[in-house]
Amino acid sequence: MDDRAGTIPERLLGWYDAHARRLPWRVMPGTVSGEEPARSPPDPYRVWLSEVMLQQTTTAAVAPYFLKFTERWPTVEALAAAPEEDVMGAWAGLGYYSRARNLIACAREVAARGSFPETEADLRALPGLGAYTAAAVAAIAFGQRAVVVDANVERVVARLFAIAEPLPAARKAIREAAERITPESRPGDFAQAMMDLGATICTPRDPKCLLCPVAAQCEARASGDPASLPVKPAKKARPQRRGTAFWIVRDGHVWLVRRDKRGTLGGMRALPDDGWNARGDGTGEPPLPGEWRTAGAVAHVFSHFALTLEVRVRAGNQPGDPEGDGEWWPAERLEEAGLPTLFAKAARLALAGG
Ligand code: ADE
Repeated sequence: MDDRAGTIPERLLGWYDAHARRLPWRVMPGTVSGEEPARSPPDPYRVWLSEVMLQQTTTAAVAPYFLKFTERWPTVEALAAAPEEDVMGAWAGLGYYSRARNLIACAREVAARGSFPETEADLRALPGLGAYTAAAVAAIAFGQRAVVVDANVERVVARLFAIAEPLPAARKAIREAAERITPESRPGDFAQAMMDLGATICTPRDPKCLLCPVAAQCEARASGDPASLPVKPAKKARPQRRGTAFWIVRDGHVWLVRRDKRGTLGGMRALPDDGWNARGDGTGEPPLPGEWRTAGAVAHVFSHFALTLEVRVRAGNQPGDPEGDGEWWPAERLEEAGLPTLFAKAARLALAGG
């Protein structure tokens, strides 16, 4: 480690001791007269749950879900024993639903083996734990020296070391630089200090370098334009898809289905639709004959495509039952159905009368 790199973890940890964000899953640092911080060890279940929720999702969006989950399922054993539909319903609105399916599979695997594994390599083998999450849990829950690189850390490191190669090619150099500055002691606090620095000071636009504990070590700052790093690749345009959802009511109840496990919003409760998916438009065909009118359309952006979903409403109490698996759900208790955001928006439109 060169001298300049050597000061970075010390400065960051000092800054974190004073400025760590208070987040519901976090065990806060607390230093006793300059000695090792005194604190209770983090609960691996809470660390894992929060890190899975935080994949692609902001701390503000995650906080209420984290509190709801840990109140309802305080341990990994409790989560493992929960019916899959309950967990999917509780996840509704947080997005990226494959995370919820993996969450259940992972909880069941951990409960069956008795505890979370403690090394990065063993954590990586669990369902839903990629390189980032395995490293974050190893460092934060188990104090292992692991190199934790998320988008915030990527930005901080690219700037500290003025890595000007465009992403994603720059990831190798960024990881190597992050490896050089990751300390043996307090790796979990160090990882979270880097994340907090990226979220609050070393922000994508207008970084607040005057407040930064490592401004003097920052090569991008020295060269005058830290906000220009990291260099992002040009954004790919998202394909635009069209689909239709159908609102079928009878005696104050609405017909809901469970989506196929594979595909977009897999396993979630939903309104019936016309088969749109990430690769193509829906047919527009209603699942039942009868008198239909259009209530309007809602727009929703998924990671790989954008969707405009028309909402069609069937005139009430017409004869004929929808086919296939589904359930009549009381319309006035729809918020308890655990609909993902797309279908919650469509339902609001239908209920408002379009
Ligand atoms: N983003 C992902 N994990 C985080 C954590 N532990 N603290 C703050 N932000 C995060």
